[in-house]
Amino acid sequence: MNSEPAFFETNPQAATVGQPLSRVDGRAKVTGQAKYSAEYNHLAGMVHAVLKTSDVAKGRITSIDTSAAQREPGVLAILTHQNLPKPAVTADTKEGKEAIGPSVQMTFLPLTTDQVYYAAQPVAIVVADTLEHAQHAAAKLRVTIVPETPIASYQDPQAKKFNPSKDPNGAAEGTTRRGNALEAFRKAPVQLTGTYTHATNHHNPMEPGATIAHWEAADRITVYDTAQGVAWQQRALSAFLGLPQDQVRVINKYLGGGFGGKGPIWPHTVLAALTAKAVGRPVKLVLTRPQMFTGMGHREDQEQTLRLGATKEGKLLALLHEKTSTTSPWDEYAETNAKIVGMLYQCPAFEATTQLARANVMTSSWMRAPGEAPGSFAIECAMDDLAAQLGLDPIDVRLRNYAEKDPSTGKPWSSKSLKQCYARGAELFGWSKRNPKNGLTRNGKYLVGWGMATASYPVHSAQGNARVRLYADGHAVVQVGATDLGTGTYTIITQVAADALGLAPEKVRFELGDTVLPTTIISGGSMAAGTVSSSVYVAAQDVWQKLTKLALMDAKSPLYRAKPADVEVVKGRLQLKSNAQKGESFADLMKRAGIADVEGSGQGRYGAGYESAQAALNAKSDDAGKDDAGQHSMHSFGAHFCEVQVDPELGTVHVTKWVSVVAGGRILNPKTARSQIIGGSIMGIGAALMEGTVRDEKLARYTNANLADYHILVNADIPEMTVEFIDEHDPYINAMGVKGIGEISIVGTTAAVGNAIFHATGRRLRSLPITPDKIL
Ligand code: MOS
Repeated sequence: MNSEPAFFETNPQAATVGQPLSRVDGRAKVTGQAKYSAEYNHLAGMVHAVLKTSDVAKGRITSIDTSAAQREPGVLAILTHQNLPKPAVTADTKEGKEAIGPSVQMTFLPLTTDQVYYAAQPVAIVVADTLEHAQHAAAKLRVTIVPETPIASYQDPQAKKFNPSKDPNGAAEGTTRRGNALEAFRKAPVQLTGTYTHATNHHNPMEPGATIAHWEAADRITVYDTAQGVAWQQRALSAFLGLPQDQVRVINKYLGGGFGGKGPIWPHTVLAALTAKAVGRPVKLVLTRPQMFTGMGHREDQEQTLRLGATKEGKLLALLHEKTSTTSPWDEYAETNAKIVGMLYQCPAFEATTQLARANVMTSSWMRAPGEAPGSFAIECAMDDLAAQLGLDPIDVRLRNYAEKDPSTGKPWSSKSLKQCYARGAELFGWSKRNPKNGLTRNGKYLVGWGMATASYPVHSAQGNARVRLYADGHAVVQVGATDLGTGTYTIITQVAADALGLAPEKVRFELGDTVLPTTIISGGSMAAGTVSSSVYVAAQDVWQKLTKLALMDAKSPLYRAKPADVEVVKGRLQLKSNAQKGESFADLMKRAGIADVEGSGQGRYGAGYESAQAALNAKSDDAGKDDAGQHSMHSFGAHFCEVQVDPELGTVHVTKWVSVVAGGRILNPKTARSQIIGGSIMGIGAALMEGTVRDEKLARYTNANLADYHILVNADIPEMTVEFIDEHDPYINAMGVKGIGEISIVGTTAAVGNAIFHATGRRLRSLPITPDKIL
């Protein structure tokens, strides 16, 4: 057997992988055929539920007067903590949490107590025949809550700070440490200290959270839910409802964005299922836009202090990171900022500690690059300060601290193309023309600034299953219980399957978003593209093996009695490696054998690179392939370059040029990949300049929980953006060599903007968002 690895581009030849195929689901979306979770309106007898929420952030419900609401037309039920069916478990016990699984972020379930812990906490559910009837009746419902003084955030003088019981960055003792960072910092010739704050941010996908819960029998339910992963939702709901998993089906065929907000299971989904049980009808519950600010988590408000010690040549000697953030009354969620601070550059001494303070807010949660996004703001601004202080170019100072191995583990990288990202980004941007001094570049009255930052995101450990069925008539059905957030899963998996089976993409139907399909990871943590594509590729190889066996045993096949190792698969054909003429197509073989279809299954795994694919190709079932076994540190890398123009009179900042260069392993589709990168960068520029949810300090209520007052970037705020990918081959990641690019685009982004503002104005601003009042 040829010892060359069967890495994807050598076998089969990529015909559509790597091509900018337009979205295969695009037509369904623009014609309204694509069915989103709230659009399963065919269910007989479906009724509508709305949440009645608390006006106060802390207190106790003393009475609920339903009499007026009950008399309104169409009302079917009013459910409160007094009459809602009880869940089988709750997440506030260890056993309950374990049963519910990884999708539970907020362990508190509203409507299980008379206590109110956060503003807009659901306190009642009104069910009616129409949405309007339910909304109207909810307005008539009188809920009396005796208020108490809430705590608004970690900044509240009443807030008590504590170290979380488990270090969010993964350290055993609550502090991540290598070397003696404090001593190294004290002795360092160059010392820099900065405190960085990050406003609360909310995910605002176009599609709000929505659930339709349909009990098909007393012990069987189908839930249409806005979830980034149906399997996690299934597991959680089966625990909450006390049903075996196979009696809980979760469906999500299309998702209108997520950004992490739809990763966990949130109360409205569980409440919809319990409500449907109570009323004996299918129930639809859609969060309103304001409820999106108190219904699906958020990026926590936080501050980080980073101390950086370096030599006069700009080499890092010490990094000390302290973080404080707000958490809920029950949970200890904290973004893992220190991970990126500790791994991005070579630095002998590092220490990170985390503090939390409980406040009357719901549990914060994953929001695009949780930890890496705000953590990179601190380290990447600090590196920029170091460059400025020593008169070095910002890229140069980063190259002086380039990490040849992962500093946090000492492991070699599976691949790292960061130097190419810097070089290509600088070239595309014209970085060499940058004035080394701050505040000296002008365009008329505008102050012009150029900033850059490094980006990185880990390849998280994940695995998932896939099923591939090839039909003799030349089409295929590929099935994975994956999710497409709108970012291209349908398209990239269609491409992978088409190439692996030698078919045109239109001959492949990819089905996803249903728990009856093979189980895979959520579309989160930048895991889906690599995991799902690899599982489909491995499943296709299972089909190859079955067809190869068939050919070798078929006296009419040109490959009769050939050695398996002498046979290769090329574009839907089996042929001899030594003589391509000698062979036949999958379709010819199947038709002659009278086999209608051949099905293969496979698993895509983290750390299972081409060697496993090779093993599958060799058709030796006892050779399971060699996994990476944790020998490498796996990360994508990139660099962002930003130009801002600052109006010195108004304090407004416009991003006028943007370049991102990303090395994320194999890029399956440069069109959808580019959209991922510009989308994440726009989100990061929004966090840098505009986004921030404001919690009233006294009432602990959000004052801007709507899209009129919570500012996000619009097209007019964004220039043409340049995105390039470095051609990167990583043999360790997975069978497709795909690292995933969903989150790296928002890592380093806020810092690139902040560094550009520093270059324009000479002022280092460390509080996000950098609004005009801070510039002036
Ligand atoms: Mo992302 S925060 O892992 O959906």
